[in-house]
Amino acid sequence: MSLRRRVKLWQWTALLSFIAIAPGAWAEAPAPKAQASKPPAASKTTPQPAAAPKTAIDYAERYAANCAACHGSEGRSELPLVPSLAGQHSFYAITQLFLFRDGRRNDHPASAAMSALAKGMSDADLRGYSDAIARLPAEALATAAQGQPSPPRDAARFERGRQLVAGHRCSSCHGADLAGGGQVPRLGGQREDYLLIAMKGFQSGARLGYTPAMNEALSGLKAEDLEDLAHYLAQGLSNGQ
Ligand code: HEC
Ligand code: HEC
Repeated sequence: MSLRRRVKLWQWTALLSFIAIAPGAWAEAPAPKAQASKPPAASKTTPQPAAAPKTAIDYAERYAANCAACHGSEGRSELPLVPSLAGQHSFYAITQLFLFRDGRRNDHPASAAMSALAKGMSDADLRGYSDAIARLPAEALATAAQGQPSPPRDAARFERGRQLVAGHRCSSCHGADLAGGGQVPRLGGQREDYLLIAMKGFQSGARLGYTPAMNEALSGLKAEDLEDLAHYLAQGLSNGQ
């Protein structure tokens, strides 16, 4: 990684950390759904520590209203090229929402819908939605791993994918169980079609990411390697399979 890239990465991380931890304008955060916002007087009857759960409920409601139609009510997507969000990490999610809002993640036609949504988000929204995403239980992906909505398992391709993951040290960042963590996304149980388009985007450079880690990790892999990787990752869950 060049020094310039390292500096850029550091700046991004600092900026994202600021959004993630800044006290922000929680109280003023616009609520697109009128029923989700409570009059300020309501908070007076609630002791101070209860403020965070209320925000959490607001964003869970907003997720249901604004995101679930595409990403699934439990975060398990049934739509082509739309990623599942269940079990995804808050810091990863906020990073991606930030990239969408900034117009920096726009690598295939379906990106436009997500970018358009993110454009209107405040920093408080980025944080609130990311925390709501992190609370969607990863178990919702287990059904996907059993063959739905991903195509049924092809034993030979699954095995090739497993070997590619081992040979290219994907687990050194994404974890032995492919569950990710922090700024690194969960891969196990993600939709196969989405995994493939994401990797193609990184490989071609169309998806830049906030770090060049992925662009580098996939260099040298062939088109059919990416297909086998996607097939394995969609089904290779935290059970060591
Ligand atoms: C019209 C369908 C649609 C709606 C509604 C929608 N999304 Fe998305 N979302 C997408 C698509 C498609 C992608 C993948 C885009 C890409 O790969 O460039 C995506 C990607 C994401 C990602 C990145 C996931 C990853 O694994 O990288 C996050 C986070 C996200 N959406 C959050 C949200 C939130 C929060 C909402 C509600 C405010 C929302 N989305 C509403 C279609 C939608
Ligand atoms: C050096 C650490 C590192 C290694 C090694 C690595 N990754 Fe990643 N991966 C990341 C990070 C960080 C992201 C988030 C990138 C971003 O948006 O900036 C990511 C994102 C992804 C995504 C997109 C997920 C989504 O929800 O959009 C896929 C798919 C992926 N990696 C697959 C792989 C595969 C397959 C390998 C091995 C060939 C691999 N990664 C190796 C760090 C790594």
